[in-house]
Amino acid sequence: MRRRQDRPHPQDRDTFWLETASVLDWITMPTKASDVSWKAEDFRIKWFEDGVLNACAECLDRHLATRGKKTAFIWEGDDPEISETITYEEVFDHVCRMANVLKARGVDKGDRVVLYMPMVPEAAYAMLACARIGAIHSVVFGGFSPEALASRINDCGATAVITADEGRRGGKTIPLKANVDRALEKAEGVRLVLTVKVTGGETSMVSGRDLWWHEMRDEVTADCPAEPMAAEDPLFILYTSGSTGKPKGVIHSTGGYLVYVAYTFGLVFDIDPDKDIYWCTADVGWITGHSYMVYGPLARGATSLLFEGVPTYPDPGRLWSVTEKHNVTILYTAPTAIRALMKEGDGFVKAHDRSSLRLLGSVGEPINPEAWRWYHDVVGEGRCPIVDTWWQTETGGIMITPLPDEPMDKPGWATAPLPGIELSLVDQEGHRLEGDAEGLLLITAGWPGQARGVYGDPQRFIDTYFSAYPGTYFTGDGAHRDAEGDYRITGRVDDVLNVSGHRMGTAEIESALVAHPAVAEAAVVGYPHDVKGQGIHCYVILQSDVQETDDLPQTLRQHVRQDIGPVATPDRVQIAPGLPKTRSGKIMRRILRKIAEGHPDQLGDTSTLAEPEIVDTLVADAQRFT
Ligand code: WT7
Repeated sequence: MRRRQDRPHPQDRDTFWLETASVLDWITMPTKASDVSWKAEDFRIKWFEDGVLNACAECLDRHLATRGKKTAFIWEGDDPEISETITYEEVFDHVCRMANVLKARGVDKGDRVVLYMPMVPEAAYAMLACARIGAIHSVVFGGFSPEALASRINDCGATAVITADEGRRGGKTIPLKANVDRALEKAEGVRLVLTVKVTGGETSMVSGRDLWWHEMRDEVTADCPAEPMAAEDPLFILYTSGSTGKPKGVIHSTGGYLVYVAYTFGLVFDIDPDKDIYWCTADVGWITGHSYMVYGPLARGATSLLFEGVPTYPDPGRLWSVTEKHNVTILYTAPTAIRALMKEGDGFVKAHDRSSLRLLGSVGEPINPEAWRWYHDVVGEGRCPIVDTWWQTETGGIMITPLPDEPMDKPGWATAPLPGIELSLVDQEGHRLEGDAEGLLLITAGWPGQARGVYGDPQRFIDTYFSAYPGTYFTGDGAHRDAEGDYRITGRVDDVLNVSGHRMGTAEIESALVAHPAVAEAAVVGYPHDVKGQGIHCYVILQSDVQETDDLPQTLRQHVRQDIGPVATPDRVQIAPGLPKTRSGKIMRRILRKIAEGHPDQLGDTSTLAEPEIVDTLVADAQRFT
């Protein structure tokens, strides 16, 4: 057993990262590690600048000679009767063909391609096909609405969309192609919609714009040379929510990103590509699906299981039946799934043989100690270490985590930064905190996997992450560090919610609410929810000429669901006569949060409010929720 305190933190980080870069083959090896300045005046983030590579070739071509016949993906369908194994050679063939279809339809290096896909192998092929020709993919989660899809297509100026006729999840179908058609009524510039036939459901095709993948794939060859890319060329854009405004298109680079995910995937999961069957239950629409379902595992030549369905279908034993069926050795999932399954009792777990498991992972939100213990003791039979990995869309890969050969002595603690990562805790004013302390989590040195910018808005990138505590990266999270130097993440300190591991801005939900004709004003806060982590509580002020009716809350919930997607559906809608505001008109969210949390005793001083009596009304009315 190794001590966390003995992790080898490099003195000379540039040398360390340059050595780490040899986890990839490169077309031209970089000779230089970093050129990073987080100062607003001369802001730049560059890694391995003179290196040349192709991310797709790193994930596929270089493995063909040694493990071409090895399974790259195991695909487990929503229907438990259906699964498939796909070798590296086969993935290579599909990807080269898809890349050739894109090329034949004029998609070039640097063009943006939006992927709106269910969890089928073609989602991974599409990402890799874009990477192969140097196009920048932007995956939009298949659960987002046509409106949300349209705004992302417009924001990144995509010229092509790759989608499926329909997706399947938990026995239901999702009309992806129909959603794309609706989105394209509000988005311009898309010349190609490449559609994968998944369910065979009724689908309409627009001639001259839409193509079926199964028809096109035989019209092209599987000969498609990988485009040599500079390390700093963007690999993808992924939209994520912040505390204000619309979601940001976070840009990741080719070289730095791929080095970082290959490095962390190997280290954190202690992967043996010839033995492990690795399963990450994330969706391709999130960063975890990029870094640790596709790019990290394939860069390492591992076998990655893709799951089309949900953990509760056809019953809450699905994760364990799939584990047994495919002899999964490493399972990487989210606390919200663990909590949901824990509620169903141990029977569903014990009904399946889990002896293949050797390592468990958690990601997406803080894991509460009860859920950790159940995961450890029941799922892992006390035998499997748990890596509780803290990271973000913006960090590209895992930053803070226990390692499998270290003691599992702190349930709920993400523990320590990986070698090469430097953290700091500060108070609100930015004073550095030493020793045992609780404060805001900052990252103080650059790392190759970090985001390079916000698409179309470089200043927003600097303002959001590098301005609050100049010269450092502000994570938006709070953390507690103990005397041994281990970290426990306490959650977001900004107006970002984490609902079932899905990140959402309160501002986005508010703007969806006020877009409804009945709504004059809205304020949205999170509150603790035992399965989802956080629930969504909306305070809504109606237009003066609108009468409150019994079904209005439900109408508004549906409206938000339609506007953003099911993940954003409010749990509670509280129609309110007013909101607590300062005399200058600023909404006191702290008070709204305390009311939603069921702690009206902790409101603090309300005397500075413009109308203090409004608080009593809100408190009294909120009691029906708790
Ligand atoms: C936010 C980032 C990391 C990929 C999936 C989510 C929270 C994430 C943990 C963890 C405590 C965590 C943070 C972070 N978070 N992992 N192990 N312990 N909190 O990526 O959607 O960009 O969300 O998720 O609050 O800031 P994301």
